[in-house]
Amino acid sequence: MTGHPALVFRANYFGDPAASQALAALLDDTFGIDVTILDRLGGPDPTGVPFAWFDASGTCIANISAFSIPLVINGLFTRAAGLQSGAVRPEYRGQGLFRSVMESALDYCDSEGFEAVVLLTDKPALYERYGFRVLPQHRFEGSPPTGGRMSTTRRLDMASDSDVTFLRRLLNARRPVSDRFAPLRQVEMFLFNAALMADIRLDLLEEAAAVIAWQWGEDGTFELYDVAGARIPALADILASLQIDPPKIRVHFAPDHLDWGAEAVADAGDMVLMLRGSEGLLPQKPFALSPMAEF
Ligand SMILES: CC(C)(COP(=O)(O)OP(=O)(O)OC[C@H]1O[C@@H](n2cnc3c(N)ncnc32)[C@H](O)[C@@H]1OP(=O)(O)O)[C@@H](O)C(=O)NCCC(=O)NCCS
Repeated sequence: MTGHPALVFRANYFGDPAASQALAALLDDTFGIDVTILDRLGGPDPTGVPFAWFDASGTCIANISAFSIPLVINGLFTRAAGLQSGAVRPEYRGQGLFRSVMESALDYCDSEGFEAVVLLTDKPALYERYGFRVLPQHRFEGSPPTGGRMSTTRRLDMASDSDVTFLRRLLNARRPVSDRFAPLRQVEMFLFNAALMADIRLDLLEEAAAVIAWQWGEDGTFELYDVAGARIPALADILASLQIDPPKIRVHFAPDHLDWGAEAVADAGDMVLMLRGSEGLLPQKPFALSPMAEF
């Protein structure tokens, strides 16, 4: 393996608290994101396997982490891995360290038998050389459906330990939010994203036992980010239960379980979703990865 003579390569080091802290420092310095808030939410993803270079003082210089993210794509279960936390300290860039951790991570994904590897990036050119291709994403826009059935709701609070525990249980037993493309299970990133999104509302529809992750957008648009539950209520029932009448709806995942007609609008954001896997795994219909599952 190519590397830096003064650095030590380590894989699968999450059992070592000092090394995990060194990765948290690299991610904070690179992206300004504090991953240690996951500790309060029940801990990091137990499937995570990091690949990294450390210097002699234990500073994490370069890293990428793989984790399991079982997906539903085109209605079929797909054993997929995700890659996240890819970073190299500025003074060590351009020396092949990222390529070395990427190659280790992809070897691991292949040897574990993952059918697909997915990642989110604003630098797609960096990943094309490893066989990743961009999956275009969409948003789904339309008018609010009417005539929904109302049920009682309760707002969850990410600052409450009992609400976080409740949410974990629900996320572990959820139905994928879409059959076109959605994680089957994605607990940690949902909680992490929910804790970071200042304006997100998490409203439990008590009868359906489903949590609606949403917020108000510009001009009163209802921005629906995710629905987590064993049952997914129709959009009309969601609006009736929340007792709101927005002029416009924008859904950030394919709304095939929402019983609602919408127009798919191409997403023009900088972050793109990429997949490495066979042609047959490409989503056949417009879709989006829920913002609550972004990693
Ligand atoms: C992007 C980053 C990880 C690259 O690390 P690095 O150690 O300098 O990369 P390497 O030296 O291993 O380069 C590997 C290859 O990627 C290419 N590359 C590097 N940065 C690139 C970029 N921004 N876009 C496209 N290609 C890039 C290199 O030219 C090199 O190509 P080669 O194999 O043909 O020589 C590093 O610059 C970084 O940490 N940036 C900030 C965080 C970030 O953007 N992370 C990725 C988020 S998805």
